[in-house]
Amino acid sequence: MPDSGHDKIVEAAHRLAQGRLVAFPTETVYGLGADAENPAAVARIYAAKKRPANHPVIVHLAPDTDPGYWVTAISPVARKLMAAFWPGPLTLILPRAPHIPDVVSGGQDSVGLRCPSHPVAQTLLHVFAALNPHGCGGVAAPSANQFGQVSPTRAEHVRREFPDLDAQALMILEGGDSEVGIESTILDVSRLKHGVPPTLLRPGGISALQLAEVLGALPAQPDAAAPRVSGSLKAHYAPHTPVSLMSVQALASWPGIAGQRVAACVLGCVPGAAPAGVDWVVLPTDPAVYAHRLYALLRELDESGYDRIVLQEPPDGPAWQGVNDRIHRAAAAFEE
Ligand code: TXA
Ligand code: MG
Repeated sequence: MPDSGHDKIVEAAHRLAQGRLVAFPTETVYGLGADAENPAAVARIYAAKKRPANHPVIVHLAPDTDPGYWVTAISPVARKLMAAFWPGPLTLILPRAPHIPDVVSGGQDSVGLRCPSHPVAQTLLHVFAALNPHGCGGVAAPSANQFGQVSPTRAEHVRREFPDLDAQALMILEGGDSEVGIESTILDVSRLKHGVPPTLLRPGGISALQLAEVLGALPAQPDAAAPRVSGSLKAHYAPHTPVSLMSVQALASWPGIAGQRVAACVLGCVPGAAPAGVDWVVLPTDPAVYAHRLYALLRELDESGYDRIVLQEPPDGPAWQGVNDRIHRAAAAFEE
């Protein structure tokens, strides 16, 4: 499917301005969008996703929109990060301006901002911002999936996540396969003036090492007072088929599971002859290519009727942090 054309994107921006929902592609995953300053519209996102209402959503801005409208102040560190990584897969948590509705921040005094690089998202956000009297409008958008499920990386995934919403209730813009394939990195820089260093709330498309190049040090790990992130629930991002993780050594002598059909996803090459009932699925050894394919693959395997998905544990290390985070949470959803 080609990307949605300009007329369709303009229609989508008008729908957003009317308080309606629009799903749109980003370079990370598809988002389920609503006017971030319209609490009734944002409430529609929560209802469609069956997501608890106290979970904050990310506000998406066009590259030419002033983020200053949304926050009390942009620190020099935040400015450097924006200059280095926007547009792109980095969400910054910043101190929320008092006029921004509670509903986007789950009642916290911060707001998550992100400027996506996907051209369809950028056009949508640009046209939408201009429809707003103050010209700085932003679109609140969590990933366009049911709460706790795998994020969509194609428009057709979004349609399948919301079977009850027809094209009138939910317009879905087309933008091909999401390039990054896992959600944005979330970095909290809302508490710098209280002495709390930049804190990594969710690893993702931008690695901790890339952040360190700009920050001069690796970001801190979250403390108890860090802003809440629903994607940091231990069990999240899970397909319907049970998922477990296994080392390559264990896979090499693994007998399979009697009576079960298993898809065993291995890195680079198969570890030996496939045990009875097991299909090897070979995944790329490059973490960026792996991330790009991961969610679409989990959906395909879900639809192929396997009893279990086994994932070979990827290496540790910063380049794999985003992938490791997602697959550990997917497996945690099935732990007793
Ligand atoms: O790549 C992405 O970030 C995608 C695309 C659509 O932009 N969006 C996404 O949204 O993954 P969602 O809602 O599925 O995950 C956003 C995470 C949530 O865990 C939420 O708790 C956190 O961002 N978040 C948003 N605003 C926040 C805030 N003010 N403080 C702390 N966490 C926040
Ligand atoms: Mg999500």
